[in-house]
Amino acid sequence: MNKKKKLEQLNEEWAKKALPLKSVAKNAVPGEGNPDADIVFVGEGPGKDEDEQGRPFVGAAGKFLTELIGSIGLSRDDVYIANLVKHRPPGNRDPLPDELKAYTPWLDEQIAIIEPKLIVTLGRFSMAYFLKEGLSISQIHGQPKRKEGRVIMPMYHPAAALYRGDLRPVLMADFAKILKTLQLIGQEQA
Ligand code: URA
Repeated sequence: MNKKKKLEQLNEEWAKKALPLKSVAKNAVPGEGNPDADIVFVGEGPGKDEDEQGRPFVGAAGKFLTELIGSIGLSRDDVYIANLVKHRPPGNRDPLPDELKAYTPWLDEQIAIIEPKLIVTLGRFSMAYFLKEGLSISQIHGQPKRKEGRVIMPMYHPAAALYRGDLRPVLMADFAKILKTLQLIGQEQA
């Protein structure tokens, strides 16, 4: 079975499960993009627009993410875009520890299928999930880290740049490092 089929099957199975935020959400937002991608972007969880459309990063923050991806010559179809939590937390509140515990195995299985070279975390929840240490995003954004055989590149959440304009050029500069990082990973693996 190819990665596309495996991912479809996985997402269908998980969408049927009893999950903590299922009853308060309109749609599951499993993720979308290229199942053979080298890069997986991981956000926090769906907002209002994502909940309505069942697609990740389609609201204002998503528009900026799409722009950032375009700024390095890629499109959303070249990468995979997912979230830690696949149903919208009510009122866009932060996901609770039990919710993260319930949803992240779904993400882990997606990543196991895609086998990306690089995981770009968007925001502090996603960074904390992958890097697990009490690190500050202001200190490590844009720096690739090796963890449990994976390469993780933490970035600010694009939504943060919507209310803090000074983070816009920071995100642009961090994104500009992605292709070089991928190239270095490729050389190591060669
Ligand atoms: N914010 C996220 O973290 N994920 C989305 O899909 C949309 C907004």
